[in-house]
Amino acid sequence: MSQRKVLTTQVAIMGAGPAGLMLSHLLARAGIESVVLEIRSHQEIAETVRAGILEAGSVNMLVDGGVSDRVLRDGHRHDGIELRFNGESHRIDFQGLVGESVWLYPQTDVFLDLSARRKADGGDVRYAVTDATIHDIESKPKVWFTDADGVEYELRADFITGADGSRSHCRVQIPEAQRKWYFHEYPFAWFGILAEAPRSSEELIYANSEHGFALISQRTETVQRMYFQCDPGEDVRNWDEDRIWDAFRSRVNGNGFEVKEGPVIDKTVLKFRSFVHAPMRHGNLFLAGDAAHTVPPTGAKGLNLALNDVRVLFEGFDSFYSTGSTVLLDAYSGRALDRVWKAQQFSYWMTSMLHTAADADDFSRARQLGELHSVVSSRHGSAYLAEAYTGWPGAR
Ligand code: PHB
Repeated sequence: MSQRKVLTTQVAIMGAGPAGLMLSHLLARAGIESVVLEIRSHQEIAETVRAGILEAGSVNMLVDGGVSDRVLRDGHRHDGIELRFNGESHRIDFQGLVGESVWLYPQTDVFLDLSARRKADGGDVRYAVTDATIHDIESKPKVWFTDADGVEYELRADFITGADGSRSHCRVQIPEAQRKWYFHEYPFAWFGILAEAPRSSEELIYANSEHGFALISQRTETVQRMYFQCDPGEDVRNWDEDRIWDAFRSRVNGNGFEVKEGPVIDKTVLKFRSFVHAPMRHGNLFLAGDAAHTVPPTGAKGLNLALNDVRVLFEGFDSFYSTGSTVLLDAYSGRALDRVWKAQQFSYWMTSMLHTAADADDFSRARQLGELHSVVSSRHGSAYLAEAYTGWPGAR
């Protein structure tokens, strides 16, 4: 076997998505070294279309953390959303209910800001690595990998952070007896499109209809992001533009509202599920973001949860390297999971309230409308939604 080149660092970070890069950035600011390894190329990540809502706490991490203030210039502040059902829209006024807002700023831009910042600061982030495997997570962790030039390395670290996404390699290194996996599958998926069209509405519209769910979101003045509920086995090739716009019209048009149509420039079926891996730590391996949990996109929580994990995990590493105390590292999993389960509940609730199951009987359909009415007609019901959507206050 060829000789591996040995590298050492304090924290090895698997995955250069927003969670991995944000952690590396926060550590660097505190004088803690890290190396970030990513199997995808920079270009591949930059070209993946992802979701787009940031809680105020996530925006603060980007702006106050010195990553970028582009979110304030190029992002759009949204002070509410519309819930649309029975052909009528009902506004949930985030500012009026809980004094908060969210920002529409796609995850791809968060990635671009973070990767540019790490590069400018001389951070060690290696894209397109292959054969990355982690070892000795209960003692002195190591990562074996081959870099983009074919050079083989052994990276030695005090800790490994597995921020390697929903198909995490790190997660499966934890012995089965030491972890529990929680799953929930849904009988629907989202058909997502990018369309060249003007905005249909100032705010996002989450629509429930007898034909199923639809979400009208946005990207720029001229490109819009929209989704409609579909079967998880759906094939995008069966959907031409007419059929796509018909699906939107039947779910959202009516009472004076019409979705603005245009050429469809991207279409994808997005499968989703609810998943939690607990605890989020084993030995010297810490999981963060999608590696530890995924939520259905209806609550717009995925990226925000990942950034929350990183904020809490950073506090643990910072405290350990500055005082030698492991108290906050030991508290990481419990603190992170506290918010993860709130987000699981919220995302499950939004998903089940807004989607229409193919086999829904009359009772289920009428009950669902009762549920939607009870949310929009009650300040308390609306405030629960507003508080969860904008991100719960009082980070622990
Ligand atoms: C998006 O703009 O892609 C988006 C917005 C809100 C969601 C999901 C996706 O809940």
